Amino acid sequence: MALQIQHLLGLEGVSREDINLILDTADNFYGVLQRDIKVVPTLRGKTIVNLFYENSTRTRISFELAEKRLSANPLNFAASTSSVNKGETLRDTIQNIEAMKIDMVVVRHSAAGVPYFLTKCTDAVIVNAGDGFHEHPTQALLDMMTIRQKFGKLEGLKVAIIGDIFHSRVARSNAWGMKTMGMDVVLCGPPTLLPQHAHTASLGVPVTDNLDEALDGADVVMLLRIQLERQSSAVFPSNREYRDRYGVDLDRLSKLKENVVIMHPGPINRGVELASNVADSKNAVILDQVTNGVAVRMAVLYLLGGGE
Ligand code: CP
Repeated sequence: MALQIQHLLGLEGVSREDINLILDTADNFYGVLQRDIKVVPTLRGKTIVNLFYENSTRTRISFELAEKRLSANPLNFAASTSSVNKGETLRDTIQNIEAMKIDMVVVRHSAAGVPYFLTKCTDAVIVNAGDGFHEHPTQALLDMMTIRQKFGKLEGLKVAIIGDIFHSRVARSNAWGMKTMGMDVVLCGPPTLLPQHAHTASLGVPVTDNLDEALDGADVVMLLRIQLERQSSAVFPSNREYRDRYGVDLDRLSKLKENVVIMHPGPINRGVELASNVADSKNAVILDQVTNGVAVRMAVLYLLGGGE
């Protein structure tokens, strides 16, 4: 089977069939990753450039690991040590890299739309590793893989996504993907960190500033990091105020379903959106998400890269 999409720019508009194919393929690669020898030859001879204009720990390392596990040749580009610092444009950068004969580009950038732009100036396959406030599709795919592992299904589960919704590409990709998969998604945060009404309406999932309402009946609670680097002015009084009103601590955890799953894309602001003892509790699957990130990225690269 082949994907209907040629690039992974976001989950908006991606079909249920494509998401299921990626998740099923990721489950197979998860099995490969449990073996002593974790390398398969499926992308041998393919060259993949990891073009990171923004900081990353989990996404960059797991893409590189996924590429190595698939026997591809990864090349790592960090804007901070490149000729971007001499004023080279994005178009010139990608066209010079493409002149060296590459097959795929994994890109992270602070500007929304950069992955789409790259599809217009290169023939390489483009995978979005996070673009501004827009989307972070592989994060949402690994989140759905983790939920499916825990519950054996996605359809009908209630997911509360709580925090800095306005600045969150993770919330946006999960809202698109989870809605497509028949999940019941609610977005929650302080009014100043919620998207404008028109924007919200286009996502097509409910939004509330009432935490109790969002948590009521939730099977999955996903906390988002307060993204201080994307805020130009203070949008809530203090970290303490945020923690008291929207943070999840043991007291709030005790009022949720016993088998509730606690998720976080990382990095965590411990003691702000999530108490340390909840992040480390048996309900938390935060490190499972990271483990699954390698399998999901192997699946995406394999399916888009024409692997055999
Ligand atoms: N979840 C995530 O994107 O983490 P990094 O910014 O460390 O890649």
